[in-house]
Amino acid sequence: MARKPVKIEKPSGKLGILTPGMGAVATTFMAGVEAVRRGIAQPIGSLTQMGTLRLGKRTDKCSPKIKDFVPLASLDDLVFGGWDLFYDDAYRAAVKAGVLERALLDDIKDFLENIRPMPAVFERKYVKRLQGENVKRGKNKMDLAEQVMEDIRRFKETSGAERLVVIWCGSTEVFHEPAAVHQSLAAFEKGLRANSPEIAPSMVYAYAALKLGIPFANGAPNLTTDIPALSALAVKQRAPICGKDFKTGQTLMKTIIAPGLKARLLGLRGWFSTNILGNRDGEVLDDPGSFKTKEESKLSVLEYILQPELYPELYKDLYHKVRINYYPPRGDNKEGWDNLDIFGWLGYPMQIKIDFLCRDSILAAPIVLDLALFMDLAQRCPELARKGIQEWLSFYFKSPLHAPGLYPEHDLFIQLMKLKNTLRHLRGEELITHLGLEYYD
Ligand SMILES: NC(=O)c1ccc[n+]([C@@H]2O[C@H](COP(=O)([O-])OP(=O)(O)OC[C@H]3O[C@@H](n4cnc5c(N)ncnc54)[C@H](O)[C@@H]3O)[C@@H](O)[C@H]2O)c1
Repeated sequence: MARKPVKIEKPSGKLGILTPGMGAVATTFMAGVEAVRRGIAQPIGSLTQMGTLRLGKRTDKCSPKIKDFVPLASLDDLVFGGWDLFYDDAYRAAVKAGVLERALLDDIKDFLENIRPMPAVFERKYVKRLQGENVKRGKNKMDLAEQVMEDIRRFKETSGAERLVVIWCGSTEVFHEPAAVHQSLAAFEKGLRANSPEIAPSMVYAYAALKLGIPFANGAPNLTTDIPALSALAVKQRAPICGKDFKTGQTLMKTIIAPGLKARLLGLRGWFSTNILGNRDGEVLDDPGSFKTKEESKLSVLEYILQPELYPELYKDLYHKVRINYYPPRGDNKEGWDNLDIFGWLGYPMQIKIDFLCRDSILAAPIVLDLALFMDLAQRCPELARKGIQEWLSFYFKSPLHAPGLYPEHDLFIQLMKLKNTLRHLRGEELITHLGLEYYD
């Protein structure tokens, strides 16, 4: 039975994408979009650009591209800006990050050089390994938030963007527990004026964006919008939020493999994961405070996927360990090793070894693009925007934000089904649960 499509405004005009943090991920994303626009590369890894979704029965053979099915902003309409504590424009930052080949960067140098970082809101206490000069000064954190709002307004004017999305691509801040100042919007605003040490720079950007009704996505594991004050502000302003921590590399592998082992009821005694990486992110994560934030984000996925409370014989005693080692010679080309001690029929032990020679920012860039386009879609759809947290975008995150009282979904395949069914729902199509009987499906 046909259902009514949900109201979504058309994406008219330009969409501005602003990234606090213009390092490896942000510049690989910006350069990549430009390369695709100029027809010199393909948007591999992007669901919005390459993905399809099935409508109706399998025999209907109807699988449109996602970008033709829901009204997304077109790549030609994207404009870019950002903040960083280093003065490097996107060209210089991309050269330093060393992810993309110099020849490609030189081809699009004119485009990249025009993206210059606005001065950052930065506090060394939150990212100990960095020190830069391109930093805002203000009488308190409210003043800094107002400066960020002014930056955003100015960017909108000069770039001609009609709509905006902010995506945190800044460094991982130190581990930070929610405090009293995070518990309500009133307490948070008072804290901004009183310069509370509990308010991290990422929260200042998020507050500024949400105050202006702009969606905010968090690509790092920082607390940021994962506090009652800012999730309440998102709902109040009808501004979508999502996070935390882009799901790339080793954790992506984990959330692909663990559901498979569980599906076949194979047991796990241990899962040891170690990484070597040599980019600035690796250097920041060499600090124990920043690593702890990352560790928490990486550790939680197996617990939720494997459900040891339902399968104690298989997963109750799982020993899960994650390590990250800063090793400069590797640059952005991370190597992630995993050793899985599994057991099968009658408890007989087996092992799986994974050696993933991955490129972190190559895996993260398409996520930034998809999030920008989907968050903009959510903003134009009142039914999604009023919810604040966009759980249907859990697919992209290691620690998905979720409604209070619920647990996050980590299984990549359930996450994908949820995302695609949300899109079907928006267009008034039947949801596909794969529960139909073979002969009638
Ligand atoms: N690459 C991946 O696969 C991946 C996956 C998950 C999460 N992440 C997270 O994404 C973030 C970006 O990763 P990256 O590889 O681009 O790191 P990067 O170090 O190359 O870039 C981060 C940039 O943020 C800047 N920065 C730090 N604090 C800032 C602030 N307060 N305001 C403005 N700029 C600030 C730094 O100067 C740096 O240029 C990191 O937090 C990382 O943990 C990356």
